[in-house]
Amino acid sequence: MSRKKITVVGAGHVGATTAHRIADMELGDVVLVDIVEGLPQGKALDLAESLPVVGKDVRLIGTNGYQETANSDIAVITAGVPRKPGMSRDDLLNTNTGIVQNVTQQIVKYSPNAIIIVVSNPLDAMTYVAYKVSGFPKHRVVGMAGILDTARMRSFIAEELNVSVENVSALVLGSHGDQMVPLTRYATVAGIPLSDMLPEDKIEAIVQRTRDGGAEIVRLLKAGSAYYAPSAAVVEMVEAIIKDKKKILPCAAYLEGEYGIHGVFIGVPVKLGARGIEQILEIGLTLEERAALQRSAQAVKGLIDKIQL
Ligand code: APR
Repeated sequence: MSRKKITVVGAGHVGATTAHRIADMELGDVVLVDIVEGLPQGKALDLAESLPVVGKDVRLIGTNGYQETANSDIAVITAGVPRKPGMSRDDLLNTNTGIVQNVTQQIVKYSPNAIIIVVSNPLDAMTYVAYKVSGFPKHRVVGMAGILDTARMRSFIAEELNVSVENVSALVLGSHGDQMVPLTRYATVAGIPLSDMLPEDKIEAIVQRTRDGGAEIVRLLKAGSAYYAPSAAVVEMVEAIIKDKKKILPCAAYLEGEYGIHGVFIGVPVKLGARGIEQILEIGLTLEERAALQRSAQAVKGLIDKIQL
């Protein structure tokens, strides 16, 4: 069996950390692409030189073009500008639309059968751009955000209860932004409902901190946004696809009637396997949760309407 090939576009914080994790997990060969001359080449070379020490056999190359990306199985798009303090993800819309459009055209040209994972923000709108520009079927375009938002919530719950992060399950749906929908009803600790473990006000505080999780990091870093947790989330998706794990994960998927939502990408539980999104799961929601998801979809629609492709 030949090794899988993963292109990561954008050799900045998220892209380089993603390449690092893919190499350390020996998931496949990595082609790192960026517009800045020398940056992807330098980071790929540095990473490649770590492999004899960590004992992993993958090939890492960096490039400013796309020829080397040909026939990739997966293309991860992290190209774009990150937030600065005080900016919302939506403020990145115009700049990142142009970048994601251009990058997607190149990916399609060289890897017509790839599965595209979008990371650039505003996430749900950028995933829509990649979908429209690529012309790929909807199961081969997916956005990373739900795993990240869920991981943030899980880490805050584990911290509050002083228990292993592995004990904590949670589910955050909706758009990656202020309108995200943390479903506390589905959060459990070693199978025990969260509501049996924590009082309502503590749960509400965790929900709020989850909503502001990205901004909290932006404020602390002052330059740039989060990348360790985002790259971990991307790589969980890459692994699920490459190993055909059929793993259920919250990801941005194109909805055509599921949850009563049409024509937008938004975070929902999906089954990720070798074919990409193999299923969209429609879980039971209360009227209130369903309304929150629909408000979230409206917010994404508002952004999409501003996009000119
Ligand atoms: N083609 C390829 N690479 C590009 C392009 C392009 N057209 N435009 C910009 N880039 C590169 C930049 O040169 C930079 O190296 O994308 C990289 C982005 O890296 P960072 O600035 O470090 O940003 P990062 O923190 O990685 O975030 C990237 O992911 O989480 C989101 O909001 C975040 O949209 C942002 C994206």
